[in-house]
Amino acid sequence: MPYDIARVRATYPALAEGFAHFDGAGGTQTAAPVIEAAAAAMRGATGNRSTAFAPGSRSLELVAGARAAVADLLGAEPAGVVLGPSATALTYTLARTLGATWRPGDEVVLSRLDHDANVRPWVQAAEAAGATVRWAEFDRHSGELPAGQYADLVGARTRLVAVTAGSNAIGTVPDVAAIAKTAHAAGALVCVDGVHSVPHGPTDLATLGADFLVTSAYKWSGPHLAAMVADPARWAGLRPAKLLPSADAVPDRFEFGTPSFPLLAGVTAAVDQLASLDPAATGDRRARVRAGLTAAQAHEEAVFDRLLAGLTALPGLTLYGSPARRCPTVSFRVAGLSPADTAAELGAAGLCLSHGDYYAYEYFHAMGLRADGGAVRASVYHYNTVEEVDRLLAELDRIATRGARMAR
Ligand SMILES: Cc1ncc(COP(=O)(O)O)c(C=O)c1O
Repeated sequence: MPYDIARVRATYPALAEGFAHFDGAGGTQTAAPVIEAAAAAMRGATGNRSTAFAPGSRSLELVAGARAAVADLLGAEPAGVVLGPSATALTYTLARTLGATWRPGDEVVLSRLDHDANVRPWVQAAEAAGATVRWAEFDRHSGELPAGQYADLVGARTRLVAVTAGSNAIGTVPDVAAIAKTAHAAGALVCVDGVHSVPHGPTDLATLGADFLVTSAYKWSGPHLAAMVADPARWAGLRPAKLLPSADAVPDRFEFGTPSFPLLAGVTAAVDQLASLDPAATGDRRARVRAGLTAAQAHEEAVFDRLLAGLTALPGLTLYGSPARRCPTVSFRVAGLSPADTAAELGAAGLCLSHGDYYAYEYFHAMGLRADGGAVRASVYHYNTVEEVDRLLAELDRIATRGARMAR
């Protein structure tokens, strides 16, 4: 069955406002079932987690439901799903916990392609432990992160390799499985940032070779919550700093304070929504999620191909990176105009694009673009259309032509 873009778009009430959202990488619009699930959870009787009274049991069910849903999304076990407020917060928890076991002379391997959420928590944990940071470099021209360099970077003292499964700046999809293989051969753990990649295709924890994988629900039509997954046995071996009376079982041991129960209902609804993207899909939710994301990916790729071809043809535009495997995300600059001004002009025309470094701090620093305002980012999500792409290209053509005239 062909991807029914009209049906998909009708699922997002915010799209009725008429903006063209090219900032899925910064956060997608919220799907109606997510809004309804969260509202229903708030409308109903609530209580803190307890088996003694029904509203308390409901809260327990909301937590269990979100864990099961995220497990289906990522090919994990529900008992290995740690829920939290953001990918950044979850990565800090893991970095502090693992870092407490590191010794001076230990090493961690980070990449300059990563969002700072999968960099700075590790840099700071390494500093606290007296461990050394080693850097994987991306190719400045192609934006690729060559997996081969990890053979030189990883050694007997490597405790952790942190790497992205998809660059939120230029879309690069590194060969995480190969990197993980190298890391594991040296006995190191692998933490994979799936925040940008997970919305754009089926993800499987085991296939990636990740020991830890993090994702944020607000990048896939859900609420502002996140999850980090690992083998439950892996979690069981770790001791985070925590309150004495809070649950010591896994995965609860890694979750702090009272969770946002209504938003957890939204996480479950968001995974169900992804599972509905291919109406012909059958089987359990994991199978339907994979089918839904496969259908969405094909649509996104077609829309992105048109965008990339159009951007490449525009005079006065510089595009950063041309990775062979990529998420539908691209960064660019218009000659003669700052990224902030470009984004503001596009914004005035109802086109929503991020500008700056989008926290891909090391990338923009290495490219020498950070101090100069970074770039403008266009990212495609499964509700975007070719008509929206054409709208963006026409507006950019107007802006770039004027920039070129002024530069003369
Ligand atoms: C690739 C990537 N990693 C991590 C993050 C941080 O996610 P969160 O906002 O959930 O902390 C982002 C947010 O944009 C991201 O794009």
